Amino acid sequence: MRDTEKNIQELIIKAKEVSLQAYAPYSNFRVGAALLTASGKIYTGCNVEFSDYLALHAELNAIGAAVKNGERNFDSILIYSYCSPPVLPCGSCRQKLFEFSQLNKKDIKIIVVNDKGEKSKYLLSELLPSGNIPVEK
Ligand code: THU
Ligand code: ZN
Repeated sequence: MRDTEKNIQELIIKAKEVSLQAYAPYSNFRVGAALLTASGKIYTGCNVEFSDYLALHAELNAIGAAVKNGERNFDSILIYSYCSPPVLPCGSCRQKLFEFSQLNKKDIKIIVVNDKGEKSKYLLSELLPSGNIPVEK
């Protein structure tokens, strides 16, 4: 198995596992995200909902888990859902990922998978061609 294929299999297992921890009493829509860093570590996150409907998205929680461990260089993120076609990251999460792609001057791979095994791969630059470049203060 190629290295990237092995990585993807591991990302699927971890994203699926964390999706089961999703706290989604309002939408019943579980999402899991597994973020692979350039150093080869994987950080995960699930969605967490609140009564104000401002949910923490799985991708955002995975970014937070990585950053709190000093990791800012992201290679790819796999998003696991239970809908067909598999859910894509929302605009806000695309922008959040874009800020890290800017920081490292490299694109981020986005892989989406569902429980039926449907899988699509994108580059962040395809999903967000003109992200907002953060201004340094
Ligand atoms: N959600 C995510 O966590 N990530 C996505 O990519 C799409 C949507 C969550 C937010 C909310 O808890 C639920 O899925 C329904 O939108
Ligand atoms: Zn989002």
